[in-house]
Amino acid sequence: MDGFELNKIMGAILGTCLFVLSMNIVAGAVFSTHTPEKPGFVVEVPEAGEGTKQAAPEEAAPIAVRLAKADTAKGEAAAKKCLACHSFEKGGPNKVGPNLWNVYMNKHAHTEGFSYSAAMKSQEGQWTAEDLDKFLTNPRAAIKGTSMAFAGIRRPEERADVIAYLATLADSPKPLPKPSQDAKAPDAAKGAAPADGAKAPAPAKQ
Ligand code: HEC
Repeated sequence: MDGFELNKIMGAILGTCLFVLSMNIVAGAVFSTHTPEKPGFVVEVPEAGEGTKQAAPEEAAPIAVRLAKADTAKGEAAAKKCLACHSFEKGGPNKVGPNLWNVYMNKHAHTEGFSYSAAMKSQEGQWTAEDLDKFLTNPRAAIKGTSMAFAGIRRPEERADVIAYLATLADSPKPLPKPSQDAKAPDAAKGAAPADGAKAPAPAKQ
């Protein structure tokens, strides 16, 4: 091997090194990975308990008392704010949230084919008026980990109207709790529910 040949080999190696180095610089310039300090968009979700917007539950009359004076037409009007995520009619589509036909006194996560949060699926028992009242006051406080991104309905009377309306959404609507039995209502409702609940899901299936 003469000196000229060796020169060519060294030159080739040097050239390759220079090429790799320059590609590195070019790639660094083209694919600069600059991490922004702020994410591109921030989804603002009002935090539970922030401010005094949430009605203090103890100020509200028991749900059965409020239901006695509830107005289903007003409830239907108030439920317009749910329409972005829910349909209410029988066999209606699931949107961001599940179809709500026949939800009252039905099991939690009652709509077949909707992918509920694990938190919702693990809830025991039925959607009693008390449960719905608590949930609709502040969904994410009532069921930690729910995917229902809704701040809640502050006015206790409005919640009662909405619940009274929800209770009408069934082929054979279940009765609302009576004020007189309110003290023992949660137990009474839960005790009475399984029989109803057992046959209730049928109309909700789609
Ligand atoms: C931003 C969208 C959104 C809005 C607005 C919304 N919901 Fe929901 N809702 C959801 C989602 C998502 C779920 C499923 C929650 C889960 O799986 O944790 C849900 C679940 C529910 C459930 C439980 C259903 C079941 O089968 O167990 C009820 C009841 C309910 N919503 C009522 C309402 C009412 C009443 C309103 C209006 C006052 C409302 N929602 C407004 C998204 C919404």
